Amino acid sequence: MSHTSFYRKYRPVTFSQMVGQAHIERTLRNALAHDQVAHAYLFSGPRGTGKTTTARILAAALLCDHPNDGEPDGTCEQCREVERGEHPDVIELDAASRTGVDNVRDEIIARVQFAPVRGKSKIYIIDEVHMLSTGAFNAMLKTLEEPPEHVVFILCTTDPQKVPETIRSRCQQFDFHAYTVEELRLVPATAQLPQKPSPRKPSAHINADAAEDERWFALLQSLSPDTKVPM
Ligand SMILES: Nc1ncnc2c1ncn2[C@@H]1O[C@H](COP(=O)(O)OP(=O)(O)OP(=O)(O)O)[C@@H](O)[C@H]1O
Ligand SMILES: [Mg+2]
Ligand SMILES: [Zn+2]
Repeated sequence: MSHTSFYRKYRPVTFSQMVGQAHIERTLRNALAHDQVAHAYLFSGPRGTGKTTTARILAAALLCDHPNDGEPDGTCEQCREVERGEHPDVIELDAASRTGVDNVRDEIIARVQFAPVRGKSKIYIIDEVHMLSTGAFNAMLKTLEEPPEHVVFILCTTDPQKVPETIRSRCQQFDFHAYTVEELRLVPATAQLPQKPSPRKPSAHINADAAEDERWFALLQSLSPDTKVPM
């Protein structure tokens, strides 16, 4: 088993499977249930605390065919495509590799006005958003000032101080915190997390994936010393 497949195995697909970010999950589920989802979120916090995972769950909840009380069902076509990274209305950008203003213009400004392919919402997940250039931030600011009705931006960063105040002030910010072994223990059983590795689009973040694997192994091993690290 490869690093990546093990890591994918434990990617939560519903808010209730997340560990240690109860305040965030509660607020998001509440907004979803009352149809009051904001146009822009800033998810900040240390590496591997669930920012990207939560962004994908939020995207799934917005697009899900059968959402329940703010949770995606995790099984419909929309949910499965979001999980595989193949949903046409979920656009994931990695600012670490796309720092140029042209990329933001091409990927966001030029396309943001188009209606979603499947109907309800179009979700932009921008990872490592603090890496964008000043020009790129300026181009994005225009869109954040008057976001089209159907668009939700989810900006993720380990370094919120590097995100310009003009951008931050237009986002609802959530601070993710490192979770503890005790919090991990509260999860009913890791067995309830998705069991099948689900290959995603090739990522530029192989090393980041490996680092998260190690973190996850360490937590699993602290719970159950017999856990073997698969190779
Ligand atoms: N709060 C959490 N609850 C359950 N699993 C989590 C949580 N945070 C991280 N994980 C696990 O760790 C993996 C990596 O999490 P994720 O990519 O969401 O972190 P991140 O905050 O986006 O990190 P980075 O800053 O490196 O992008 C997930 O696949 C998931 O298995
Ligand atoms: Mg991330
Ligand atoms: Zn669904």
